[in-house]
Amino acid sequence: MGISKWILLFVTTLLFVSPSFVRFSYGALSSNGFSDIPKKLLDYAKRQELVDWMVGVRRKIHENPELGYEEFETSKLIREELDKMGIKYKYPVAVTGVVGFIGTGEPPFVAIRADMDALPMQEMVEWEHKSKVPGKMHACGHDAHVTMLLGAAKILKEHLEKLKVGCFIVACHELGECIKILSFTGESFQGTVVLVFQPAEEGGGGAMRIIDAGVLENVKAIFGLHVSPDIPVGQVASRPGPLLAGSGFFEAVISGKGGHAAIPQHSIDPILAASNVIVVTVAKFQGGGAFNVIPDSVTIGGTFRAFSKESFMQLKKRIEEVITGQAAVQRCSAAVTFQENGKAFFPPTVNDKDLHEYFQIVAGDMIGNQKVSIMQPLMGSEDFSFYQEVMPGNFFFLGMKNETLGKLESVHTPYFTVNEDALPYGAALHASLALRYLLDFQPKISSPEGKHHDEL
Ligand SMILES: *[C@@H]1O[C@H](CO)[C@@H](O)[C@H](O)[C@H]1NC(C)=O
Ligand SMILES: [Zn+2]
Ligand SMILES: [Zn+2]
Repeated sequence: MGISKWILLFVTTLLFVSPSFVRFSYGALSSNGFSDIPKKLLDYAKRQELVDWMVGVRRKIHENPELGYEEFETSKLIREELDKMGIKYKYPVAVTGVVGFIGTGEPPFVAIRADMDALPMQEMVEWEHKSKVPGKMHACGHDAHVTMLLGAAKILKEHLEKLKVGCFIVACHELGECIKILSFTGESFQGTVVLVFQPAEEGGGGAMRIIDAGVLENVKAIFGLHVSPDIPVGQVASRPGPLLAGSGFFEAVISGKGGHAAIPQHSIDPILAASNVIVVTVAKFQGGGAFNVIPDSVTIGGTFRAFSKESFMQLKKRIEEVITGQAAVQRCSAAVTFQENGKAFFPPTVNDKDLHEYFQIVAGDMIGNQKVSIMQPLMGSEDFSFYQEVMPGNFFFLGMKNETLGKLESVHTPYFTVNEDALPYGAALHASLALRYLLDFQPKISSPEGKHHDEL
C-alpha cells in the first residue's frame, strides 16, 4: 500500500465515518481532501484556450447589449454554448432566462447565478468591441458575469461528469489533469449544479421571476458575484449579513393649477411645491415646457435604500408623508406611487453567515486567505437578494483593478470598462464554490464499514 493509498484511506475514513460530517462542519472542510480543488480549477481556468474563448464570448455580448427581458440574442448565445458543451437547460424561464443543469440530476442542488441585462446608456469608450447598439451599454459588467458563468459551466462539465461513474474525487495530483479521480466502492457521487442565467437585474426584478418559475425548488444554496473596479484583480470581498441595501423606486405627481408666469398669484405653483418635497434621492424632475408657463403638475421620481426591511418600510412611509404634507403646504395635491413600470422593490442583500464562512474557505483555498477580505456594506442594491429570501446565499465582489493598467471607471458610467484578466478568477470561483459544495455536503452515505476498505 503506497503512501497515497494511506492518505486515501484516511480521507475516506474521515468522510464516511466521522459523524460530524454533515452540513457546515468547518473543521472537516478546511482539512479535507478537497482543499486543492479551487487552486487547480483556477489553473484550469487560466489556460490560454479557455481564456481566449471567454474573452471572445464577453466581447460578443458587449457589442450587443440588451435591456431587461429583451436579452434574446444573449440568451441564444448562452444556449448555443450550453448545447456545444452538452449541458441540459430549461428555456425560457422568466422570458429570456436560461437555467442549466450539470451533474447527476439528484440532490444536493447548488446554484450559481449571473445576470444578463445591459443599461439604457450610450457607451463612450472607443474600442474595437464598443456597443453596436446606440443608447445601450453593458455598463455594469453583466457581459462579464454571463461569460464567467459559462466559463464555470465548461469547467464543471469537464470535471463533474466524471463523478457519475461510481468514482470520487480525492485529490488533485497531476498538472494538466486537474482532478485525479480514484475509483473505489460502488457508492457514487450525486449532486447537481444549477446554472442561473437571469434576465433584468437592473430594476426589473428578474430574480423574483426566476424564483416564481419554480426552477430553484430544492436548491440548498446559491452564489453570485459582481465585478468591482475598486478591488485588485485576483482578490475578492464580501461580508456576512447585510452587504447591499434594499432599494425602492417612487414617483410622485404633484398637481396645482397652471397659468401665466407673469401672474403667479393666480396659479398654484407645483414647481414650488415639488422643490420643497425633495427627500432622499430625486433623480427625475419633470415640470413645464415653456419659460413663461407655470405647469399644472410636476412629476418627480427617485430611489430610496436601507439595510433592513424595517427601515426600508419606514422610509417608504416617510417619503409618502413628506411629499403629500409638503405639497399641501403649497396648496398642491400629490399622488405617490412606489412601483413604476413594474419596477420592483429590492430587499437588502443579506449573506447567510454560514455560507459566507464557507465562501471564505473556498476562496481562500484558491487565492490565499489574505486576498479574501471583509468589506463595508454598500448603498448599491442587487436583486440577488430575492434568492436570499428563499434560500441561503452568498454574494461577493470580484476584483478587476490593476494599477499598471490605470484606474477603472465605476459601474453605470459611460466610460466603464471590464478588466478581462478577472474572467478566469470568476469562472473558477463559481465552479469551485459549486463543486466543493456538492462534495462537502454529499448526502451522508450509510455504507457499511469495511466495504470501501476492501477496495484498498
Ligand atoms: C496587471 O497588468 C500588467 C500589465 O498588463 C500585467 O503584466 C499584470 O500581470 C497584471 N496583474 C494582474 C494581477 O493580473
Ligand atoms: Zn447595475
Ligand atoms: Zn450589476
